[in-house]
Amino acid sequence: MPTMTHQVSRSPFSKPFYMRTLEDGASPRPQRRHTLPASEFRNLTPQDAISVFEIEREAFVSVSGECPLTLDEVLNFLSQCPELSLGWFEEGQLVAFIIGSGWGKERLEQEAMTQHIPGTSAVHIHVLSVHRHARQQGKGSILLWRYLQYLRCVPGLRRALLICEEFLVPFYQKAGFKEKGLSNITVPNLTFQEMEYHIGGAAYARRNSGC
Ligand SMILES: CC(C)(COP(=O)(O)OP(=O)(O)OC[C@H]1O[C@@H](n2cnc3c(N)ncnc32)[C@H](O)[C@@H]1OP(=O)(O)O)[C@@H](O)C(=O)NCCC(=O)NCCS
Repeated sequence: MPTMTHQVSRSPFSKPFYMRTLEDGASPRPQRRHTLPASEFRNLTPQDAISVFEIEREAFVSVSGECPLTLDEVLNFLSQCPELSLGWFEEGQLVAFIIGSGWGKERLEQEAMTQHIPGTSAVHIHVLSVHRHARQQGKGSILLWRYLQYLRCVPGLRRALLICEEFLVPFYQKAGFKEKGLSNITVPNLTFQEMEYHIGGAAYARRNSGC
């Protein structure tokens, strides 16, 4: 498994991915790229929805019969709040992704599953998924870490919230999430833990990350 240390030393973002993309596009002398980048992290766009959904479908339908997000919901969130998503691409292929949306209340509620509330201080992470060929290689942890670092640069954000099944609680705890207790959100035959991450040390982090 690749170590986080390597990523940390290369990482802190100088600017949100969203802004970097725009600025790169505006460069007066864009460099021609003849090969696809080996590894790239960027915000997703509605054009990525099919690739997202294919990974999601494989990850969830065979297991629980349902995806956290339908294709329409993926499209909605990638249209409304692309800046709260992050994709990991290897040679142009999506290998892992996170989709989030804004949420304004202390705890997640059923409406959070389908709504994006703009300008709020919390992001609801709907789904983190890694392509089945790329699992158990540290990619899920690395993408989540990069996403949480990136959120420090999104103005106004203070918390990340998610719900997960009990077996994934240790995975999110390792990333710094704390349990908030059983979620009010239920799906037939499934219960969820709600987890919270404080996008803390913001002033320090911003000063040192060049946001
Ligand atoms: C969960 C997921 C995102 C983890 O990504 P990953 O790249 O495979 O995980 P990493 O290699 O970074 O970390 C591995 C750790 O994840 C946890 N983990 C991953 N899959 C797990 C599973 N099915 N059951 C329990 N723990 C699991 C374990 O803590 C594991 O550590 P271990 O091998 O020491 O036990 C990925 O397996 C996935 O996409 N699964 C299907 C979709 C899903 O369940 N998404 C999360 C809910 S939105």
